[in-house]
Amino acid sequence: MKTILTVAVLICGSTLASAAWCEDNPAAGAKLYATHCVACHGAERAGVPPTFPALTDIGKRLQPAQIKEKITKGGGLMPPFAQLSPQEINDIASFLVK
Ligand code: HEC
Repeated sequence: MKTILTVAVLICGSTLASAAWCEDNPAAGAKLYATHCVACHGAERAGVPPTFPALTDIGKRLQPAQIKEKITKGGGLMPPFAQLSPQEINDIASFLVK
């Protein structure tokens, strides 16, 4: 499995990459959200304001790059998710702004 992932990352980084293989996948992002984010931000993304911000309109407040940076680095009470791959983070971000 690890090998397959590494190959995917290598292929996606190359100019030979097929778009379908590397595109953001909001459905995969939804699953990752359910695993990693639900505890604080809630199944409906309503959060528990003011401690845990709602993510329902996050696409209006933050650029995708800012969302991805938040996931990678965390901040405040949010832990960093450095274990997620760039593809997984892209998938989560695409789910959130969808
Ligand atoms: C342990 C609780 C916790 C978990 C788990 C968590 N977050 Fe957060 N998140 C927070 C808190 C608290 C903040 C506010 C941080 C701050 O003020 O800097 C936040 C902020 C954010 C923001 C910025 C919101 C804004 O309005 O600026 C985004 C985007 C976000 N989280 C996405 C995610 C995603 C995606 C995941 C899953 C990969 C996740 N969070 C998992 C607690 C959590």
